[in-house]
Amino acid sequence: MALNQETILSDDAFLVSETDAKGMIRFANKEFCNIAEYSLEELMGKNHNIVRHKDMPKAAFKDLWDTVKSGKVWQGYVKNGTKSGGFYWVFATKNEKNEQCYLSCRRKPSREDVLKYGDLYKTMQ
Ligand SMILES: Cc1cc2nc3c(=O)[nH]c(=O)nc-3n(C[C@H](O)[C@H](O)[C@H](O)COP(=O)(O)O)c2cc1C
Repeated sequence: MALNQETILSDDAFLVSETDAKGMIRFANKEFCNIAEYSLEELMGKNHNIVRHKDMPKAAFKDLWDTVKSGKVWQGYVKNGTKSGGFYWVFATKNEKNEQCYLSCRRKPSREDVLKYGDLYKTMQ
């Protein structure tokens, strides 16, 4: 996959990952690994920011963490980076599974929303 190239999720994609209380990855399903281009072994125990893309504003992650820590469900659009320097957009739902871990499920966002949030995130820090 070339640098800065977008991977578009399939319509029925469902990418799952689980972290501990600090955001260290405890599990990722095959689809998550395939799209992010990492093996499960490479992801296990790593900070979830391993897939962070530089275009994502800090404020989005603050909102995410404040929300899940307070026991609520967070939903939002996230641009993630792949191992080879590409990217992929997801519509993510994250929630507290229990006090020790968090769960995230991701689906394909509409093109309209990708463009909308891509523009919005450029205006945020
Ligand atoms: C369950 C869960 C899933 C997460 N998934 C992602 C993700 O897909 N991409 C991402 O950039 N950050 C994700 N995060 C947020 C990261 O933990 C991290 O806060 C973010 O990448 C920003 O990096 P930083 O905190 O080092 O600034 C997730 C956090 C949790 C709790």
